[in-house]
Formats: sequence, C-alpha cells, structure tokens
Amino acid sequence: MTLLDPNLGYEVPKAHLGLAGKSITKEQDLTIDQWAGLLQLTQELKEDKRHRREVQRLRGRNIALVFAKNSTRTRCAFEVAAHDQGAHVTYLDPTGSQLGHKESVKDTGRVLGRMFDGIEYRGFAHANIEELARSSGVPVWNGLSDTWHPTQSLCDVFTMLEHSGKPADEISFAYVGDARNNVGNSLLIAGAMSGMDVRMVGPESLWNSTEVMSAAAAIAQTTGASLLQTSDPAQALAGVDFVYTDVWVSMGEPESVWTSRLELLNDYQVNASLMALTGRPDTAFMHCLPAFHDRRTEIGHKIFTETGREALEVTDEVFESPQSIVFDQAENRMHTIKAILVATLES
Ligand code: CP
Ligand code: NVA
Repeated sequence: MTLLDPNLGYEVPKAHLGLAGKSITKEQDLTIDQWAGLLQLTQELKEDKRHRREVQRLRGRNIALVFAKNSTRTRCAFEVAAHDQGAHVTYLDPTGSQLGHKESVKDTGRVLGRMFDGIEYRGFAHANIEELARSSGVPVWNGLSDTWHPTQSLCDVFTMLEHSGKPADEISFAYVGDARNNVGNSLLIAGAMSGMDVRMVGPESLWNSTEVMSAAAAIAQTTGASLLQTSDPAQALAGVDFVYTDVWVSMGEPESVWTSRLELLNDYQVNASLMALTGRPDTAFMHCLPAFHDRRTEIGHKIFTETGREALEVTDEVFESPQSIVFDQAENRMHTIKAILVATLES
C-alpha cells in the first residue's frame, strides 16, 4: 500500500476520515484509511502553517492535558497545536490534580467530560486511558501509556515519509533496543499499518510480546508489510532507511532495573559501528527523545559516575551526526498531534 506518493499527493478527504468524536488510545483504534488520512492531513496542516494560511477549525473548544508522567514534547505539541487551531488548554501536572490520589480515573473522566471537548492523557496502565475514554464520553488521546505511544508513532511514520520522499511500502526501518516498550510496540504496529519493512532488534527477553507481534502480523497480511524480530543487529540493519532507538529504561520502571538493562542492551547501543551495519552512508537516525547521548543530564551524569559510560542508547557522535533527524522528528509531534485534534474534534 502506498500512503503518500513522493509528492505527498495521496488524497483522503478530511470529511471522510470518520474520526469526529472518536478516541485514539492506540494505533489499532484506527482503520488503515484513517491512519493514512491523518498522515495526509498532517501534511496539509504543516504546509498551511508554513505558508501562514492556517484556518482555525477548533475555535472555542476546550482541551484538558492530563499528565501523570513528565513531558516536554507531547505537552508542548498539544498546547501549540491547540493554540494554532484556536482552542484553549488546561494542563494538569503529575501532582497537581486529585487524579490517582483522591479521585479515581472513572470519576475524573466523568468530571472532565462535562467541561472539556477532548482530553489528552499520559499515564501508566493502558487500562486507565480506556477507562477515561469510556467515562468521559469525549475524545481521549493517549499521550503515552506503559504499552502504547500512538501520537509518537504517527509522527515517526510521517517523518519517515517526509524525509525519504518514498512511498511507505518502499521504506524500511530497524528499531533497536527495548522493543517491548511503548514506543517499540507502537512503531511495530504503525509500521505494519503503513505497509513498511519493519525490523525489531534487541535481546530476546525484550522482544515485543507474542500478542503484539501477532496483531502486527495480522495487519501486515492486509497491508503487505514485512516484519522481522531478531537479536542480530547485522541481520536487522542491512540496507535500512532508518535506524530508531529509545531509552533503555522507561518512565515508571523501577530504578533497580538499570543494572540489568545496561548489561542486556550493551550490544545494542546505536554507535558508529552499529550504523555501519546498514552498509549505507545515508541511513537516517531517529529517536523519540529525550535521549541519553551524553552526560549532561542528572541520570546521564549518575550513570557515568557509576559505570564510566559516556552515553547509553545512542552515542553523541551518532546523535549529532548529519544523519540524525531527531529534531525534525520532534517538530513533527506538533503537526501530527494537530491533525489528530482537527480530525477528532472538527464537527
Ligand atoms: N517523545 C516524547 O513523548 O517526549 P516527551 O516525554 O517530552 O513528551
Ligand atoms: N519509552 C519512553 C518514551 C518516552 C517518550 C518512556 O516511556 O519513558
């Protein structure tokens, strides 16, 4: 399947996306056409903003941004996207509301649904976001759960299409590292939905679950995607267009897992030697961010002090190389999230 041709000319009329009033808790909430439609809408909205001809379609709408975990990109992307479209936002930080401390997800949903037209939620257990969607009765967007990060994967597929200029079914990527985290799960499903050549590489104990892999395989049967799960970086990286990695320990995981994770993922650091396995000088590097590529963070500094490691999942050399497109990718969080807001809130 081709999502966007090299001129980004694939047409999916906005009115036919059928997403008005719908929640997006994970990629599988969307049909393949809706997924393609969001990518197309992103392209249009990004162009409109660039040419200063953006039309505000969400004037007077109120959006709640509820974060049980920290965020830079996701929060800012939702805020800027909402403001660009004329909507108002209210931010509830990880400690500032009653949610989780004195009030259940279900009750919070019933309250927020009376006041807001839509709710972004970043939390822990995925079941909580589904509960919020049920109880609020308004569109709920998953801004990251322990299992899925769908606004990230939409951005990532958009960035791959934009950067390569190729149709989705000609694009290959390798996700290296902790494959069974939220970003790994989401990218696997997103790549399958987009008909891409998807390679998940990491130690077997960190592979995607059989359930997630089976879901991706079922999707791949209709889209023509090819899927590989391996512990061999050489096999996974050969000839790929994109190499993608994420942190080795995710938000919400106990600090005690660091020691074993450093050992498990030692051979999966994205460094110059690993990038050389692609056999291509032009393979792009992607990361959802934030990244531990140097010691200029509290955690990076602590790990350097304890282990002497200058970098974790990616070296500074690769992160800062011309092949790194991580900041283009970060910007695209805003454009893709805007497409989600417009598609689900516009009546
Ligand atoms: N990539 C991402 O979700 O970043 P934040 O945690 O800063 O939102
Ligand atoms: N897997 C990471 C993604 C951060 C955007 C985490 O959950 O911390």
